[in-house]
Amino acid sequence: MNTPLPAAALKHIASLSAKRWDRCYTAMKLRSDPVYTAVTRELAGSALPVLDIGCGLGLLPFYLRESGFTPDIIGFDYDTRKIASAQVMTGQGGYAGLSFMAGDARTGLPDFGGNVVILDILQFFTRVEQETLLHAAAARVEEGGKLIIRSCLADDSTRFRITVAGDWFAKLTFWMKAAPVCYPDRALFESVLSSAGLRVRAEPLWGGTPFNNHLIVAER
Ligand SMILES: C[S@@+](CC[C@H](N)C(=O)[O-])C[C@H]1O[C@@H](n2cnc3c(N)ncnc32)[C@H](O)[C@@H]1O
Repeated sequence: MNTPLPAAALKHIASLSAKRWDRCYTAMKLRSDPVYTAVTRELAGSALPVLDIGCGLGLLPFYLRESGFTPDIIGFDYDTRKIASAQVMTGQGGYAGLSFMAGDARTGLPDFGGNVVILDILQFFTRVEQETLLHAAAARVEEGGKLIIRSCLADDSTRFRITVAGDWFAKLTFWMKAAPVCYPDRALFESVLSSAGLRVRAEPLWGGTPFNNHLIVAER
């Protein structure tokens, strides 16, 4: 579970989508984004289920299954088109223990206990909404579980400015429903998650991208 999936497995995941655009996006994203391997590595050996908040098309759940991760996984996203696509792909792939639900993370999360993952959605929230979501996510992390977050960190780097431009591009091309609102900084994760009783670490997760992404892992 620690190495990137072979190209054939990535191609297989992409082939499950009913739409040509989603197949192309999935293949490109899984090939180029280091986050799926990084999260898979963090979850290796865990028997706890996973809640993937802002799961999009479900790329992480499918990646985890193809990597041999067997606990239940719930994907949660407010974009009903993406949730419907993830459900179709689950059926096509014959994956057991994967479920996808539509809902807005600003107004509540499903009842859950285990590992929680939040990839690339905090920039769509205000600072107060970020704090509320982090508190709610931390409360769902069970003993021995992790809250794994990928987020751009606000700072004065060129990488940060490129990330902001990329998010606006996604909005203007209608790939994302929302425009970026507020980028979290390192202090937010340290203060909120430490006060929730989690041990926090953060490391750059740049891969081959120009973005200022970091992996933040908080363990109970
Ligand atoms: C950049 S995409 C990341 C998708 C997925 N996490 C991945 O890495 O493949 C951000 C996702 O967050 C979702 N999202 C944004 N705001 C949300 C909210 N308030 N509640 C639920 N999902 C949200 C979007 O619909 C989108 O699918």
